Amino acid sequence: MTKNIFRTKSINEFISETKQDGGMNKVLGTFGLTMLGIGCIVGTGIFVLTGVAAANYSGPALIISFIIAALACGCAALCYSEFAAMVPVAGSAYTYGYVALGEFWAWIIGWDLILEYAFAISAVAIGWSGYFNNILMNLGITLPKALTMAPYNGGLIDLPAIIIIAIVTLINIRGVQQSSFVNNIIVIIKLAVVALFIVLGASHVNAANWEPFMPYGWSGVFSGASIIFFAYIGFDAVSTAAEEVKNPQKDLPRGIILSLIICTVLYIAVSGILTGMVPYLDFKTTAAPVAFALQNVGYHWGAAAISVGAICGLTSVLLVMSFGQSRILFVMSRDGLLPKFFGHVHPKYKTPARSSLLICVITAITAGFLPINIVAELTNIGTLCAFIIVAAAVVVLRKKAPDRPRAFKCPWVPVIPALAIIFCAILIFMLPGVTQIRFVIWLILGLGIYFGYGYKHSIISRAKQGMLTPEAAAAGAETEAGTAETVHPTDAH
Ligand code: ALA
Repeated sequence: MTKNIFRTKSINEFISETKQDGGMNKVLGTFGLTMLGIGCIVGTGIFVLTGVAAANYSGPALIISFIIAALACGCAALCYSEFAAMVPVAGSAYTYGYVALGEFWAWIIGWDLILEYAFAISAVAIGWSGYFNNILMNLGITLPKALTMAPYNGGLIDLPAIIIIAIVTLINIRGVQQSSFVNNIIVIIKLAVVALFIVLGASHVNAANWEPFMPYGWSGVFSGASIIFFAYIGFDAVSTAAEEVKNPQKDLPRGIILSLIICTVLYIAVSGILTGMVPYLDFKTTAAPVAFALQNVGYHWGAAAISVGAICGLTSVLLVMSFGQSRILFVMSRDGLLPKFFGHVHPKYKTPARSSLLICVITAITAGFLPINIVAELTNIGTLCAFIIVAAAVVVLRKKAPDRPRAFKCPWVPVIPALAIIFCAILIFMLPGVTQIRFVIWLILGLGIYFGYGYKHSIISRAKQGMLTPEAAAAGAETEAGTAETVHPTDAH
C-alpha cells in the first residue's frame, strides 16, 4: 500500500498524454502568458484586502507585509518555473508532485489547488459583487440586500457573485483564444487605473500618516503578510496554461516570473502611497480602500475610475482562475483520480468544458452563501501548502533525475526551495487558528476521496491490475485491455 500510494508517472508519460485527441490549441506566447498572470494576480488582494491588512494587522508597515509575501512568492515562483519548463502539462503543481513525489502527494497538491482556485474564484466573485453594488448605488440604484449578500452578512444569496461566475465560465468554455483576448483588454484597463492611482496619489502622501510605522509590531506585520498573500496568488496559474503555449520551455518561466515582478513593483508602490494618504485606522470604515484614498483627497472622478477598473480587474482574476481550475480537474481526471467525465475535451471548442461547468456550480454555491474572509483565508492556506510541496519536489527531482534536461533551472538549489518552504510555513502559522483547523478538515476529506475513489481508479493502479494495457495506461487512454488501441507515448526530448 505504502509503495502504491507513492507510485509515480514519468515526465514523458505526462507529455504524451497532452497529445491525445489532438490536444488543446497552442496559441499563447510570453506576452499572452504575462497578461494571463497579471490578469490573475491584481484583484481583490490589492483592491480590497489592503485596507483590511493595514487597519487590523500591519498599519503603515503594510509595505513590509507586501515585501515578505513577495519573498515567499518569489522563491516559490522560481521553483514553479523549473517544473513548468520541464513538465509543460496543464496540471501545474499537481503534475509536478506526481512526477517527483508520487501519486499520494500529487493528490494532496491537487486537492490543495482545488481549494486555492475554487475558493479564490468565490472570494473574488464576492468582492466583485461588492464593487458592482457600490457602482450601482452611486448611480442611484439599490438592489435588495437579500439578493446581494450571503446569509452570514444578513442577506439570502449573493446573486451578482453567482451571475459573474456563470458569465466567466461561458467565456472560458468558448476557448482560450477568446479568453486570452478578453483578458488582455481587461488587464490593460486594470493596469491603467493602478497607474492612475500611483500618479494621483503620490503627490498627496503625508509622511505623518506613516507614524507609528508598526502599530501592531512584527507579529502584526507577518499576520498582514499572511492575509495580503492573497494579492499575489495567480502567478502559479500561468503554469496551468502549459498545454496551450507555443514554446513552453521559454515562455512559461518568463510568463511566471515577469508577471510576479510587475505586480510586486506595483503593489509596493500602491501600498506605500495608500498608507501615506490615509491614517491606517480610517481603512476600518471602507471595503474599497484604493478608491477611498482618492476620494479622501478630493479626486471623486479618480475614485469612480478606480471602481470601474477594480470591476475589470476582478473579472480578469475570475477568468484566469476559472481557466486554471478547469485545467487542473481535467488533468486529475485524465489520471483517473477524478471521474473520466471531466477529462473530456469539447470537440468544437477544444476546452475542458465539463470541468469548467463543474467548477462553475461549486464556486457559485460557495460565493452565493459564504462570507469573504473565510473563503479568502482558505484560499491562502491551500496555496501556501501547495507551494511548500512544489518547493520540496524541486529538490527531490534534482536528486532523482539529475540529468533530466531543465530548460530553466531554479538558482541556488536547495537554498531557494528551503527559503520558499520556510516563508510559506511562517505565513501558514500566522493565519488564524480556525483557518488552520478548517484546512485540516479539508485535507481529511481529501484523503477520504483519494482512498475511496482515486486510489482504485488511478490509471497506474488499473494498469497494474491488468485492466489497461501498460501503453494505454501510460497515455491515460480510456480503452480497456483486450480492445485497447496501441498508443505509443512520445518521448518529449
Ligand atoms: N491575487 C488575486 C486577487 O488578489 C487572487 O484577487
